[in-house]
Amino acid sequence: MTLSRDTPVAIVGAGLMGLAIGQVFAARGHDVTLYDLSDEVRASALERAGTIFDLLEQDKDAGLAHLKTEGDLATAVAGAGLVIEAGPERLAVKRTIFLELERLTDASVVLATNTSGIPIREIVAPLSQKFRVLGTHFWNPPYLVPLVEVVEAEATSPELVSQTIDLLRSVGLRPVRLRADIPGFIGNRMQHALKREAIAIVASGVCDAETVDTVVKYGFGLRLPVLGPLEQSDLVGLELTLAIHETLMPALDVTPVAQPLLVKLVAEGKTGAKKGEGFRKWTPEQADALQKNVNEYLVSAAKQRRLEEETEGPGRSG
Ligand SMILES: NC(=O)c1ccc[n+]([C@@H]2O[C@H](COP(=O)([O-])OP(=O)(O)OC[C@H]3O[C@@H](n4cnc5c(N)ncnc54)[C@H](O)[C@@H]3O)[C@@H](O)[C@H]2O)c1
Repeated sequence: MTLSRDTPVAIVGAGLMGLAIGQVFAARGHDVTLYDLSDEVRASALERAGTIFDLLEQDKDAGLAHLKTEGDLATAVAGAGLVIEAGPERLAVKRTIFLELERLTDASVVLATNTSGIPIREIVAPLSQKFRVLGTHFWNPPYLVPLVEVVEAEATSPELVSQTIDLLRSVGLRPVRLRADIPGFIGNRMQHALKREAIAIVASGVCDAETVDTVVKYGFGLRLPVLGPLEQSDLVGLELTLAIHETLMPALDVTPVAQPLLVKLVAEGKTGAKKGEGFRKWTPEQADALQKNVNEYLVSAAKQRRLEEETEGPGRSG
């Protein structure tokens, strides 16, 4: 089966991510079947999807007409060309799901996992049709954060990866291709490299956590939505980047384990905004206001992207 703009999609695990991934496909006219073990999760799924259509000011009736729930896995995947697994992040559960999917679907059906970090090769180890399993690492929430890291594991068919990328692009997402199954994929490696340095700076007493966040939000972070780090290097010239690296690299933190300050805060129960303290102190109002601000920013960016897409057409590079 070749993936196309009307390929039916089945989602296995209709929790936070699975439901939201299904909403993205349904909003673009794909028939989507949501499967979940839990009756409760299935019962609330369409209402939860409805709130996403409302938030994005998309046609809710049209979108919901493409979504249905199903409590029997064989029925859920019958007729699907793409199955996306978004079950719990546990190897044994994912292996069981994929063994079932391999048995229940035709060899032409693409099977994708939304694992955050379990190597695909581990998930597919007991399968005989490893070529049709790949990683699709969506970001939360996928209807606002369009990146999908598409992971081509050792045994995955490159052709199926290409088809999946085209399909993801056609529903307004921004897929990128990883030709190796590496921990953290690309996005989390970069995000956590930044956090390692941020925590090291606070731990060494240079400044407090608020100052670190200010430096990002009012400094280089302002450019990031339109200028990636390597584009920025090319624009300023690589001689400058090289000169900075020759001085700076020996000074950067290279702690090869979780930062001691992070370990200490967690041990003290200072686990973040919900507990009133993490790297910074929080009132519930401050935490709510910040979350609201993030959501409003992401919604407005998503609307802007939709406008651009309507003007320029879908499938721009990215
Ligand atoms: N939450 C995130 O920000 C995020 C981001 C990217 C990737 N992921 C990954 O996506 C996956 C799902 O995460 P989530 O946050 O949506 O979790 P979740 O707990 O909200 O959803 C998991 C769902 O799977 C269901 N489930 C349990 N066993 C199942 C089975 N055998 N078959 C079918 N369904 C089953 C549960 O009932 C639940 O509804 C995980 O692998 C996670 O690591 C999460």
